[in-house]
Amino acid sequence: MTPSLGFGIDIGGSGVKGAPVDLTTGALTAERLRLPTPSPSKPQPVAETVAELVAAFDLPADLPLGLTFPAPIKHNVVGFIANLHKSWKGVDVDELFTEAIGRDVVAVNDADAAGVAEAAFGAARGVPGVVIVTTLGTGIGSALLVDGTLVPNTELGHLEIDGHDAERRASSGVREAEDLSWREWADRLQRFYETVEMLFSPDLLVVGGGVSRKHEKFLPLLRTKAPIVPAELRNSAGIVGAAYLAAQTDG
Ligand code: BGC
Repeated sequence: MTPSLGFGIDIGGSGVKGAPVDLTTGALTAERLRLPTPSPSKPQPVAETVAELVAAFDLPADLPLGLTFPAPIKHNVVGFIANLHKSWKGVDVDELFTEAIGRDVVAVNDADAAGVAEAAFGAARGVPGVVIVTTLGTGIGSALLVDGTLVPNTELGHLEIDGHDAERRASSGVREAEDLSWREWADRLQRFYETVEMLFSPDLLVVGGGVSRKHEKFLPLLRTKAPIVPAELRNSAGIVGAAYLAAQTDG
């Protein structure tokens, strides 16, 4: 049986966030704690920050613990890394974090976790067919779900479009860095989503990441074939999805 409580940790470029999660509703059962991501964001200091965060909660020993990471993770190993310190490439995250925290942990890609959370509790709940959840932040993350089942590590933010790595043109971080207007940014997003649609013919596109709070500024400017909707879990999607996936892995 799947446990009813889990703990999720979301590792990002600027913050490491964690909270306990009610796995029947997808709600956080305590306020989320945020610690700054160490700089430089090398494996050992990040693992220590994660351990400090977990220690701040009084967690039962057998509570499923999931962790998101901003990179593809195949058989627990970081494939490549775009937005944290380069020394993460090739690291066995399961080994690193399990040792630092002193308990079992399940590590998954951050956008995959968000996608699973949206499919279980949010905008993609019960949606059949092909759903693509994208997270717009420092980078662009993607989760591909087919009838609710995740196809992991799709990395659509690194599609090469018009000769550019997609996230280097169209992430929310780039919008801020280049001070783009919503219209200018939407034009870049349009190229991204039309390429994604051409390749995958999704039934639904879900847009997450912090900027999805302001979805009314840019989603209406996009012309997609499939409906495109804001994520519902917003900033807690990674935490919720990580806890959910950890519980499934344990059980
Ligand atoms: C990484 C992805 C990640 C996304 C969002 C990309 O640069 O390659 O693995 O999901 O950023 O953090």
